[in-house]
Amino acid sequence: MKLKKILPLIPLLLSMPSSANSLEVLHWWTAPGEFEAQKVLKQALAKQGISWQDFAIVGSGGGSAMRVLQMRALSGNPPDAAQIKGPDIAEWAKIGMLKEVDNILNNKLWDKNIPDVVKQTITYQGHYMALPLNIHRVNWLWLNKAIFDQLKLSPPTTWNEFFSVADKIQAAGYIALSHGGTSWEDNLLFESVALSILGAEKYKRAFVEFDETVLTSSDMIDAFKLFKRLHQYVDKSMVGKDWEIASKMLTDKKAGMLFMGDWAKGLWHSSGKVANKDYLCVDVPESKNLFSYNIDSFVFFKKQHQNSDNLNTEILANTLLSEQLQHDFNIDKGSIPVRTDIDISDFDACSHKSFNDFKQSALVPSFSQNIATSSFLQSEMRKVISTYFKSDNLSAEQVTKQLALAIRAVSKK
Ligand code: GAL
Repeated sequence: MKLKKILPLIPLLLSMPSSANSLEVLHWWTAPGEFEAQKVLKQALAKQGISWQDFAIVGSGGGSAMRVLQMRALSGNPPDAAQIKGPDIAEWAKIGMLKEVDNILNNKLWDKNIPDVVKQTITYQGHYMALPLNIHRVNWLWLNKAIFDQLKLSPPTTWNEFFSVADKIQAAGYIALSHGGTSWEDNLLFESVALSILGAEKYKRAFVEFDETVLTSSDMIDAFKLFKRLHQYVDKSMVGKDWEIASKMLTDKKAGMLFMGDWAKGLWHSSGKVANKDYLCVDVPESKNLFSYNIDSFVFFKKQHQNSDNLNTEILANTLLSEQLQHDFNIDKGSIPVRTDIDISDFDACSHKSFNDFKQSALVPSFSQNIATSSFLQSEMRKVISTYFKSDNLSAEQVTKQLALAIRAVSKK
């Protein structure tokens, strides 16, 4: 259909109320793995008589989805629910657009089986404003097992070992580091490096409290220098390509290593790839006992036209947090359940590692997945970080100053 014909229909589409038993949900789960996980959700809801209407926006980590959501909200017709995470939850709550979800789950579940960092993330002024679904670990290093076996390499535990392994993989004709090269992925890569160099306490001072002494410190300069050294190992033709392509290159034996959150594991699971057989999951070098977390959650918008939405929300909540869904969904998604009481004995070895590490590690909110920062600040940070990664002229000292300035400007500190 021509654009001219579609344009007049847009106001009509935007003002259409969703029907009583349908739930329009904005999300960006369009990659294999994400899609399967989402199907599990849809089917579980269908059993409860709720039809999930996709409002899916493709794109790295939801950046485009957030922009589309803002337009819908401004036009007075937000979807029923949306995948909103971290401080963005409070931003939407502040302008009065979200429903509280305090009362729709039985207290036992909230109080006993949901970790404190999750509760804090979804709370605004003492009220729960979102329903959490899972916990993803962001700071993983993934290895192609066949390449490591063939070249007789051991998983690197220090950055020195990492560079020596990367050189050997490259010399053998493989891409050493699979990396999609969107600014979202550059940001994720920098986060993993920065956490390993700074450690948990300084990471939080820098990226949660925006403490300028840490943001402009020599440690931060070192983190940027190390980050830049990784650029020589990525395939430059990948610029702009999304994480799914980079993740597939790892298990297709085109590349030896990949830094990515464990949603990549969901993608591999969907194509029959198996942990410890096709790929290995290890800590980012020098990051043992450091866990950068990402929590997927859904918020619910106050709606003008619906009368039965309370019912839908309640059913949705109880379905999302049911034992069955927590189990099935998270196997497909690559994450661990957000409930600590779920039996994960048939999850794979990487999920077991994540589950144990979550209990034993220093936990830090991921800034690249906007758990530490709003998506607005995140997008400003990633412009600075990504420009530096690809530039030949900027120094680590310069980008350190630029990042601190960008954070100061947006966080109004
Ligand atoms: C993250 C999201 C994950 C995963 C990833 C890639 O922001 O929290 O669930 O889907 O984006 O799309």
